[in-house]
Amino acid sequence: MTPLIIAIDGPSGAGKSTLGRRLARELGLLYVDTGAMYRAAALAVVGAGVNAVDADEVARVATRARIELAGDPDSLRVLLDGRDVSAEIRTEQITRLSSVISTIPAVRRDLVRRQREMGEAGRGVVLDGRDIGTVVFPQADVKFFLTAVPEERAKRRFDEDHAREPDLTFQDTLADINTRDERDSTRADSPLRIAEDAVVIDTTELSVEQVFARMLEVVRDRQVT
Ligand code: DC
Repeated sequence: MTPLIIAIDGPSGAGKSTLGRRLARELGLLYVDTGAMYRAAALAVVGAGVNAVDADEVARVATRARIELAGDPDSLRVLLDGRDVSAEIRTEQITRLSSVISTIPAVRRDLVRRQREMGEAGRGVVLDGRDIGTVVFPQADVKFFLTAVPEERAKRRFDEDHAREPDLTFQDTLADINTRDERDSTRADSPLRIAEDAVVIDTTELSVEQVFARMLEVVRDRQVT
């Protein structure tokens, strides 16, 4: 049987990882947070002391980095060269740098190859990212595009990040979200865009429960046909 592939794309703070984890748990599938892979690659670049504008060096470091996603969807751990970096990859610096290095085609090529291998290995997978339904798995069984207005996405991100980084202001988070959206959507290689056959859900006014119910309904409909 070919594995079931569920793609979830969308901008930062739209709810992709919360919903991706829940779907994976509910359906007994693997969960792959592809953003965490770009973040781990960014951390490797910092660790190697490489300048982010040197695309060749960044690509060399990123392609050599051993990146593993371990554990179940609810307690996913990210390992870089065997070291648990789950917390380190969530800092502001790495958030920004991951968006920057993700514009480099050689970095994308390498991570996309790894994501395809992960997706094809098991009995099914939920992947969340920016280019899953358009580039990584254009033949995915189900594609979702989650979105929400920037202020709401910034509010969610701020609520999460503020405890960890008390100096952070809401305006910083909103500005960061806008800059990242712009970069992720306008880069030449695999920009964030809605796949033609994606189910688009605007989560601005919806609870996690409501979005989850809608997604599950879509998946169940597809599985029957
Ligand atoms: O989803 P996230 O915020 O953890 O992702 C971090 C960055 O990685 C994001 O700004 C863009 C990049 N990314 C990407 O280019 N393609 C993906 N499939 C996932 C993330």
